[in-house]
Amino acid sequence: MRSIDRVQELLEEGMIDEIVQPLMSGKEADVFIVRCDQEYRVAKVYKDALNRSFRQRAAYTEGRRVRNTRQQRAMDRGSRYGRAQNEAAWQNAEVDALYKLGAAGVAVPKVHLFYEGVLLMDLLLDPAGKPAPRLVDCDFTSEEAWYIHGFLVAEVVKMLCAGIIHGDLSEYNVLVAWNGPVIIDLPQAVLATHNRSARELLVRDVTNISRYLARFDKVIGETRFGEEMWEKFERAQLHADTPLTGRWRGSNRRADARAVLREVEAAAREARPRR
Ligand SMILES: Nc1ncnc2c1ncn2[C@@H]1O[C@H](COP(=O)(O)OP(=O)(O)OP(=O)(O)O)[C@@H](O)[C@H]1O
Ligand SMILES: [Mg+2]
Repeated sequence: MRSIDRVQELLEEGMIDEIVQPLMSGKEADVFIVRCDQEYRVAKVYKDALNRSFRQRAAYTEGRRVRNTRQQRAMDRGSRYGRAQNEAAWQNAEVDALYKLGAAGVAVPKVHLFYEGVLLMDLLLDPAGKPAPRLVDCDFTSEEAWYIHGFLVAEVVKMLCAGIIHGDLSEYNVLVAWNGPVIIDLPQAVLATHNRSARELLVRDVTNISRYLARFDKVIGETRFGEEMWEKFERAQLHADTPLTGRWRGSNRRADARAVLREVEAAAREARPRR
């Protein structure tokens, strides 16, 4: 079914009052602006899943299980039914994450409804009342860049404390709304304690943001908040208000490893004439 037909269904069911205009067509979804009473909202329609590859999702879906074992077996086998179930789980993961993170006070769009593969949420706006731009579309002073970086690091900490890692956080999945940055696009969100790639995904998420904002102040690119917060998280020492420095001792460890190598080489050189 075409995306627009799905939104049309919402209109026919009386869940929305008007389809205003298409907003974006992404890799995974089509996004429309719709109106409900006096409020404008966004309808995110997941693209037809059966034509898409699921292999790349393996790293993300690890640790996600459904309660029904018949469904789980079908999903594991990758049959047509299993793939449809898999898609439902994928879409639900975004809705679940948005609800959980909203409740944890993370800056994500408020969800209003999830119906037949359509996610209805708040439309994020810029100060002029237009759809909010992505982080990648904005320019910042060094001071603004540090502020946004600090804000997003704090949001990632809150997410981690709620047990969730975004998994695809970057300058493309943060919108800069009139009241601050908002994190979007979470179907690949992973459970921090149920996924072997959790640390890698978390560090990549934070590094993506630091690397992008380093355009406006290169010192931002030298921070290591991802590694630092994961270390504290693993030791059950991470809370929303835990002070972080952006420095990480592990990076000294690498220097230590180089020092050890130098020692080994020196020892080998000394040993050579003796042979
Ligand atoms: N709540 C929202 N308010 C305003 N704009 C939104 C909202 N949600 C999504 N958008 C717009 O739609 C675009 C696509 O949304 P999203 O990233 O969730 O879907 P996607 O299909 O995974 O996209 P992509 O493949 O480009 O990452 C966003 O970049 C943003 O411009
Ligand atoms: Mg996106």
